[in-house]
Amino acid sequence: MNFKERLAAQAARVDKLLEEYLPEESGHQKTIFSAMNYSVRAGGKRLRPILMEETYRLCGGTGTEIEPFMAAIEMIHTSSLVHDDLPAMDADEYRRGKKTTWVVYGEDMGILAGDALMIYAFETATKALHWTAYPERVVRAISILAEKTGIYGMIGGQTVDVELTGKPVPEDKLRFIYALKTGALLEASMMIGAVLSGADDEMVKKAGEVALLVGMAFQIQDDILDVTSTTEELGKPVLSDEKNQKTTYVTLYGLDAAAQKVKELSERAVSLMHEIPGENAFLEELILSLVNRLK
Ligand code: IPE
Ligand code: IPE
Ligand code: MG
Ligand code: MG
Ligand code: MG
Repeated sequence: MNFKERLAAQAARVDKLLEEYLPEESGHQKTIFSAMNYSVRAGGKRLRPILMEETYRLCGGTGTEIEPFMAAIEMIHTSSLVHDDLPAMDADEYRRGKKTTWVVYGEDMGILAGDALMIYAFETATKALHWTAYPERVVRAISILAEKTGIYGMIGGQTVDVELTGKPVPEDKLRFIYALKTGALLEASMMIGAVLSGADDEMVKKAGEVALLVGMAFQIQDDILDVTSTTEELGKPVLSDEKNQKTTYVTLYGLDAAAQKVKELSERAVSLMHEIPGENAFLEELILSLVNRLK
């Protein structure tokens, strides 16, 4: 299998895994089940679970306790998108090629579906306790998942992002926003992969550092695509940042310098990743492929 085929196979595997954990749409509260499933099934690149599993394998993991965590990180990421698109936040009407959750289910259900996915992710992650001989690793992984999702992670980053909307943002604050709103869930992905494989603290830390560099590059590329791509290609509206008067790397430094930054950060991520022993050709190609991604 070449890189592209393997990546597609991995994404399909994540889709299948998610199906194992998504709730059945019946019962009095079935609207919430439908709204959750709608947003998860809309698709997406499935980057975070793929990075998680690749890091797990790289660090020598061979078990199945990674699977509930792969589903969980994608649920959390999806919950962040459902909330990010709400009228009170970025007010966007397309996501993953479909109408956003709030447009289809109403703003009330959009709020609840985001909440539901976020907490159901933790319910899902705890299922790893059934598959592992190392419950202490699972507990540590859950704690990383919580920290990187919450006030010291994605939610903390979204807070500053929303608060500074329409205001000038100096570079250090912008870096803080990107590191948290986008970097943190990538850090969680790679750190959890390392933790569950039994990697030592130094390797877990390194995995987190690699992921943070990837996350910064990923968000800057997202900013670039917001300007250069099309809604058809992205599956979400272009010029959303301009509409919301967001300061981004592109507004601060221009497209060329932003693209240069993506390349630089990704190359640093790859060279740091080489300090983790193991077969890493796919992971390397994956990280570098994000530099030129079109969606
Ligand atoms: C979008 O994430 C939000 C950002 C952190 C930039 P992705 O680009 O990974 O979105 P999906 O999962 O592929 O839809
Ligand atoms: C959002 O950043 C990052 C999240 C935590 C959801 P953006 O607002 O730029 O993400 P998109 O462009 O809507 O996917
Ligand atoms: Mg946003
Ligand atoms: Mg947005
Ligand atoms: Mg964006």
